[in-house]
Amino acid sequence: MKRESKEPGVQKMFDAIAGRYDLMNRVMTMGQDQKWRRFVVQQAGDPGKQWSLDLATGTGDIAALMSDSYRKSKLAGGDFSLNMLKEARKRFDGKRISWHGCDANNLPFADDCFDSVTFGYLLRNVDDASRVLKEVFRVLRSGGRVVCLDTTPPAKNLLYPFLQFYFRFCIPALGKLIADDETAYAYLTGSTMEFYTAENLSAIFKNAGFNRTGYKKFMMGTIAVHWGEK
Ligand SMILES: C[S@@+](CC[C@H](N)C(=O)[O-])C[C@H]1O[C@@H](n2cnc3c(N)ncnc32)[C@H](O)[C@@H]1O
Repeated sequence: MKRESKEPGVQKMFDAIAGRYDLMNRVMTMGQDQKWRRFVVQQAGDPGKQWSLDLATGTGDIAALMSDSYRKSKLAGGDFSLNMLKEARKRFDGKRISWHGCDANNLPFADDCFDSVTFGYLLRNVDDASRVLKEVFRVLRSGGRVVCLDTTPPAKNLLYPFLQFYFRFCIPALGKLIADDETAYAYLTGSTMEFYTAENLSAIFKNAGFNRTGYKKFMMGTIAVHWGEK
């Protein structure tokens, strides 16, 4: 039996929380989130005068950091939540970024056209990570880089009970308090715990065709940045 797609629900959820998304991010990560995005930008490298895509750009933080770090680059930010894109436009009006409503499963871009593709917190939200990675591979030029930031299920070590408590109780409670949406942040917890381990996700990058893959974990092993090259 075919599983029902979670993507329409994800789109609605981000449309609903767009206005409170940034504040919630800063509080929930204790102000660490921009540090991981800067690492993403560093891993993507300088595209020179070429195009770079920040997919699932949301309110635009990674795209803006790319634009600040690599002054000659041309930047596109893409997302299927138009409310998130509206916030991105409002926050980063005046930066050299073109914003696109688009679905990561079917990108409206030609083959081999980007020097790098970055995305933060996308793969956990799609039905088929492998399909999305193949689509990203298609739009990258040969030698181009992919860099992915996402939450990752914590290892079952001594810290696990503490992290589980934080994910299961504190994050939904903060979601209720700050974003007035406990369900959206309970979803974050569920989708993190059910997501691929960093090791398994790395194998999916390789299967999608990427070389020179690697990853690094942050925040007590609950955040991972993966990268690879076409
Ligand atoms: C948690 S937010 C991350 C935003 C941003 N990358 C950041 O670092 O804060 C996830 C974003 O992924 C977008 N998204 C999820 N699935 C998508 C898809 N299939 N195509 C395009 N965007 C998608 C959502 O609309 C949302 O804006």
